[in-house]
Amino acid sequence: MTTDHVQEADVGPGTAQLEAEFQNRVAADQRIEPRDWMPEAYRTTLVRQIAQHAHSEIIGMQPEGDWLGRAPSLRRKAILLAKVQDEAGHGLYLYAATETLGVDRADLTERLIEGRQKYSSIFNYPTLSFADVGVIGWLVDGAAICNQVPLCRSSYGPYARAMVRICKEESFHQRQGYELLLTMMSGTDDQRQMVQDATNRWWWPSLMMFGPPDGESPNTRQSMAWRIKRHTNDELRQRFVDITVPQAHRLGVELPDSALSWNPERGHYDFSEPDWDEFTQVIKGYGPCNAERISRRAAAHRRGAWVREAAAAHAAKSRRREEDR
Ligand SMILES: [Fe+2]
Ligand SMILES: [Fe+2]
Repeated sequence: MTTDHVQEADVGPGTAQLEAEFQNRVAADQRIEPRDWMPEAYRTTLVRQIAQHAHSEIIGMQPEGDWLGRAPSLRRKAILLAKVQDEAGHGLYLYAATETLGVDRADLTERLIEGRQKYSSIFNYPTLSFADVGVIGWLVDGAAICNQVPLCRSSYGPYARAMVRICKEESFHQRQGYELLLTMMSGTDDQRQMVQDATNRWWWPSLMMFGPPDGESPNTRQSMAWRIKRHTNDELRQRFVDITVPQAHRLGVELPDSALSWNPERGHYDFSEPDWDEFTQVIKGYGPCNAERISRRAAAHRRGAWVREAAAAHAAKSRRREEDR
């Protein structure tokens, strides 16, 4: 036996062995939990992905929140309010999941505000009419469901468990949107026109939500090997199109893609590529609403400082009382 071996036995298993055990557990579909050993790159990938997801939930409150004061009826306002509050809850579960990986949510918020972390490109488009509320529920929450249902089986336990509850709420979001659109489509010509216009504007950005084509998605292969992700961007995009086209028919709206048609050989719908240059511009910060979204988030964060300080002071006081007892 060499000295190296003796030393290794004394300090426990080496990194190569830990890495092999980790990979075996992931391959056997066992969950990785916060205290388990994990490769540093797995941890940083998860922090990036979950934080990006949390930021998207919180920034995503803005486009629809814009309509809270202008909802056409008390019923629509109550539904929209519940939906927007759900998104806040999703953001909070997900920030809590990132904290199990040893980061601090205050730090993640700073990174978002300073543009060092991203959020979904979809929320950089404006909501121009109340039909947008319905179309966001139908298409944006619908796309989110396609993305997120497989994440309920993600290899990282806290993320997978957060996704189970989030997905249940997302399906309510999708339904309330579709129901709103069905109502508008049985209304006046102007209302039908509003739905068609909103569909035209949100269709392509919704397809972009799945990320770049597989050939240009640098992180996909590793994320799939680690079972953080279970399907590629293009697979998920195809699934979304296949689910959504019949829904559009039932609704009586046209999807704005002349190439959209059923392909019996593939057993899927064919469709055109979104404008990937537009996607790149929006991701880089040059979408229609990027600056507005971030400045609003930054202002809300500043305005909330006293609440965070008060909560921290209260927690410290309670701890001291507990210790004095
Ligand atoms: Fe959500
Ligand atoms: Fe949602």
